[in-house]
Amino acid sequence: VATTEGMKGGGYYDDHSEYQRRTAETVDALVEESVRAVPVLAPGAWFVIVDYGASTGRNSIASVRTAVAAVRAREPDRAVAAVHNDVPTNDWNELFANVASRADSYLTVAGPPVLPLASAVSFYEATVPAGAAHLGVSFSAAHWLRTQPTVAVPDAFYFCEATGDARAALAAQADADWTTFLTARAADLAPGGRLVLEMVGTDTSSGEPAVTARALLRAMTEVAAQLVDEGSLDRAAFERYLLPVYARTPEEARAPLERPGPLAAAFTVEVARTDRVPNPYLDRWRADGDGAAYGRSYAAFVRGFTESSLRTNLFGPGGHGDPDALLDDYFGRLERRFAADPEADAFEDWTLTVVLARNL
Ligand SMILES: C[S@@+](CC[C@H](N)C(=O)[O-])C[C@H]1O[C@@H](n2cnc3c(N)ncnc32)[C@H](O)[C@@H]1O
Repeated sequence: VATTEGMKGGGYYDDHSEYQRRTAETVDALVEESVRAVPVLAPGAWFVIVDYGASTGRNSIASVRTAVAAVRAREPDRAVAAVHNDVPTNDWNELFANVASRADSYLTVAGPPVLPLASAVSFYEATVPAGAAHLGVSFSAAHWLRTQPTVAVPDAFYFCEATGDARAALAAQADADWTTFLTARAADLAPGGRLVLEMVGTDTSSGEPAVTARALLRAMTEVAAQLVDEGSLDRAAFERYLLPVYARTPEEARAPLERPGPLAAAFTVEVARTDRVPNPYLDRWRADGDGAAYGRSYAAFVRGFTESSLRTNLFGPGGHGDPDALLDDYFGRLERRFAADPEADAFEDWTLTVVLARNL
């Protein structure tokens, strides 16, 4: 069982993931370059693109379109298959509705039709027949841990607030998961294939680690603590809860690829770095000063990707009352808090980009 049942379905995540879209767009050129670096396939062979953690598709179809267009720029008639990977409980209906109907779907790229496919398994396993993939991409997804951490970090919801043994245990869990993820990708990819992966990251270039989403997670913890104080959430569930996400540094991203062994032999690291991606909600507030709109858009962005985890591991087991009503209350409080002081809990981002070549 994955640590999320997927992003909030029915179009909610699609409507509130402008930040993730913006993040993916920053590596469009790397995606194009990576397609060009894949050795030309035999005549008649299918070029297979896999998007790991595709969610409900509005962002996925745009990134896959960039890749399909790059394939067709090189070979206008090359057959292409687009595999969308996500957990079985993902809202797949929404994904295929987007593939079929959105103007920016890859189905509208010139050339022979692109074959849309789903791979409904965890990306901690092989997702396609061995060696079938030529380009793997993944955006805002590979930071989700494989299993819910059981390490106690009583007053915080995020790995980076842990200290000592607890912090080391979380780093070890994230390293093991990343190793498993990459081992599965080594199986998926054909020799010469490329991977372009983006996920939340941590920048260590200026001393104190700068961790993506740290201020957000502190705000989320404080608002949940209010619910504990008011008696609508169990203290024990609050103390147990951690968002099952780990923001790696570029060094942590390289580590399993630099240890002697099968992964080091399978991949060459082309890129491992963090970059800032501007926050679209904050940019808009700075331009129009509309705090209420900012609070709404920021809270909805957060709800899109955290609701499943909060329901399963916080409000489900520990809430007093209907989890959905508690979630409405919780996100309402966050929205008002964000609106009242837009800069205070702003989402800051150091996106980690990793580009790997599957060795021949
Ligand atoms: C924030 S969404 C990103 C969606 C899309 N790539 C984008 O950029 O908008 C993260 C996705 O990763 C998926 N995910 C998390 N853990 C996963 C796993 N173990 N296997 C496959 N997908 C997973 C979630 O279900 C979710 O759809």
